[in-house]
Amino acid sequence: MKMTLILLLGLLAPAMAAPPSYPDWAYAVPTPQNEAIAPKDDGTKFTLPGAAGPFTRGQTAGAGHTPPADWYPGDHPSMPKIIAAGDAARGITACTGCHYPNGKGRPQNANIAGLNADYLARQLREFKSGARRSAEPRKKNAQQMVDFAKAMTEAEIAEAAAYYASLPPTVPIKVVQTATVPQMRSQEGMWLPHESGAHEPIDMRIIETPADVDREQLRDPHAGFIAYVPRGTLAKGKRMATKLGCAGCHGEGLKGADAPGIAGRSPSYLARQLYDFQQGARHGEMAAAMQPIVARLSAADIVNLTAYAASLPVK
Ligand code: HEC
Ligand code: HEC
Repeated sequence: MKMTLILLLGLLAPAMAAPPSYPDWAYAVPTPQNEAIAPKDDGTKFTLPGAAGPFTRGQTAGAGHTPPADWYPGDHPSMPKIIAAGDAARGITACTGCHYPNGKGRPQNANIAGLNADYLARQLREFKSGARRSAEPRKKNAQQMVDFAKAMTEAEIAEAAAYYASLPPTVPIKVVQTATVPQMRSQEGMWLPHESGAHEPIDMRIIETPADVDREQLRDPHAGFIAYVPRGTLAKGKRMATKLGCAGCHGEGLKGADAPGIAGRSPSYLARQLYDFQQGARHGEMAAAMQPIVARLSAADIVNLTAYAASLPVK
């Protein structure tokens, strides 16, 4: 026991001295140049297999505060109004515009399907109170999330939390260990392969990208993501998760217990949260439980742990 503790401290000591910082890969802040070349609504209508529609890009995105298209209405229970349509008068965008009707979301927001309702409601209240924000001030969608929560009533918070908590797991993330990755650019908060087709070393990063860019840009809730992670990451992450006792709070297989499930969720999202705890941008009621943990984590630890969590089955 003593031996383990000494080893553990020895392993973690250098990380504690690291200056506070956070990496681009986890935040994917879009640039105006890349947004300028993002596909625009030109009136073309698109279809997806076995789905409702056809819909234009504007319809899928919920442009002009219209309810975003629901490709697969049979997928989910009926949605409360705040989720399906938001409330333009109070500046609340439909939740489905970013988290989708099935809760899958994208790496730049969050997969919230099937998380504990109390946890979800607490997050909304903490966005509202200022106890939770993004460490990255240029991450506009996180600021929007804060603004939506501020405008929501307590009843809407409860019904939104209950709705997303009731949903089953969505599409698994394909985690690929590799030495090189396609060169990427950030657009709409996602990493998309650069037209050049060039590759570069992955270094100590996770690069998450749509498995099918066209389908993801149409907000297909059945489309998946690939997470490229450095070689050897999964075994290291597993060892570290065991050593630090993540399952003690996050449950068996990290599927959720008192603390939210982190198995099978976007590693970019998870890493961003660990950095946000580290930077003190997330300092709500229960965030204290994570403080002693994140204080010890190096950038490499965060890659290993979040890649490992993403690779686990959700349920
Ligand atoms: C413009 C896009 C957008 C919309 C619309 C949106 N969200 Fe979010 N949401 C985000 C982002 C971005 C985050 C994660 C911020 C971060 O990186 O920390 C988030 C995070 C969350 C979380 C925290 C998840 C977790 O695991 O802790 C909850 C809960 C949530 N959103 C609920 C909602 C609800 C309910 C609505 C509708 C009222 C909504 N969101 C609408 C972008 C959005
Ligand atoms: C002592 C209990 C405890 C331990 C041990 C613990 N966590 Fe947590 N963790 C929590 C709690 C509680 C929350 C929710 C905090 C909140 O409500 O803001 C959380 C939140 C998180 C989140 C954010 C989830 C989200 O949806 O935004 C991540 C990521 C995370 N933990 C990863 C880990 C990892 C990886 C480990 C192991 C290295 C770990 N945790 C160990 C209690 C714990």
